[in-house]
Amino acid sequence: MEQDDKALIWDLPVRAFHWILAGSFTGAYLLAESERLRNIHVMFGYTVLGLVAFRLLWGFIGTRYARFGSFAFRPAQVLAYLRSLPDRARARHLGHNPAGSVAIWVILGLAVLTGASGYLTFNEIGGDVLEEAHEVFANAWLLVVFAHVAGVLVESLLHHENLAGAMVTGYKKGEAAAAIRSSAVGVGALVLTAVLGFWSWTLAGGGPAAAADSDDARPAQVAALDLVDDD
Ligand code: HEM
Repeated sequence: MEQDDKALIWDLPVRAFHWILAGSFTGAYLLAESERLRNIHVMFGYTVLGLVAFRLLWGFIGTRYARFGSFAFRPAQVLAYLRSLPDRARARHLGHNPAGSVAIWVILGLAVLTGASGYLTFNEIGGDVLEEAHEVFANAWLLVVFAHVAGVLVESLLHHENLAGAMVTGYKKGEAAAAIRSSAVGVGALVLTAVLGFWSWTLAGGGPAAAADSDDARPAQVAALDLVDDD
């Protein structure tokens, strides 16, 4: 392999999914205690659920490294990978590595649990127990995200490769033969359009984030966003 060889690894839907998920999780977490911006917190929660539903589908029909088959590692492979970490010459993974794959499965699982418990709590189903569970899931998710980001940093340092940058551009060091042929731009554009449309709808006062408790949520939201004049 030439030093400068670059291969397209992450298609646009995976990259859009990743950064919108990261942003939505961060936004929802930061706004978790705000009564005034409750609907924005809920908007991010719905976004997470929608994104995960899309990702589950894309894991079957997406491009090579997006498909679940490319990151279905056995526990023994994960252990072998972790043991090999000090050895710089160990096999490099172009798609997800075995340890990263575990974090991804856990993140997807916690996203569903956090989103679902939040949905039920917002709709006043399940009471205090589910509200508590929602908080526990969100905090567990935060811990896994820290581990995920630390793992990305370690792997980037060991392989002298900017993996976060690769999640932005889609390209990693690699031979052309290993690259995916298409970035699936059309599907990526659909994901982006759906998310931006949903966010605009919510910010304009509509959508499920406002509907469940329209008496309380709308005035708070309108005041917060300064969308209407009182006159
Ligand atoms: C600055 C923060 C972050 C960076 C730099 C980062 C970077 C990355 C990178 C490089 C990968 C590919 C991993 C690999 O090579 O195996 C990845 C995958 C992933 N990350 Fe992150 N990440 C960040 C934050 C987050 C957050 C906050 C979440 C969840 C809320 C998240 C969820 C995921 C998921 C689910 C995948 C799998 C993507 C897929 O296959 O669809 N990441 N991340």
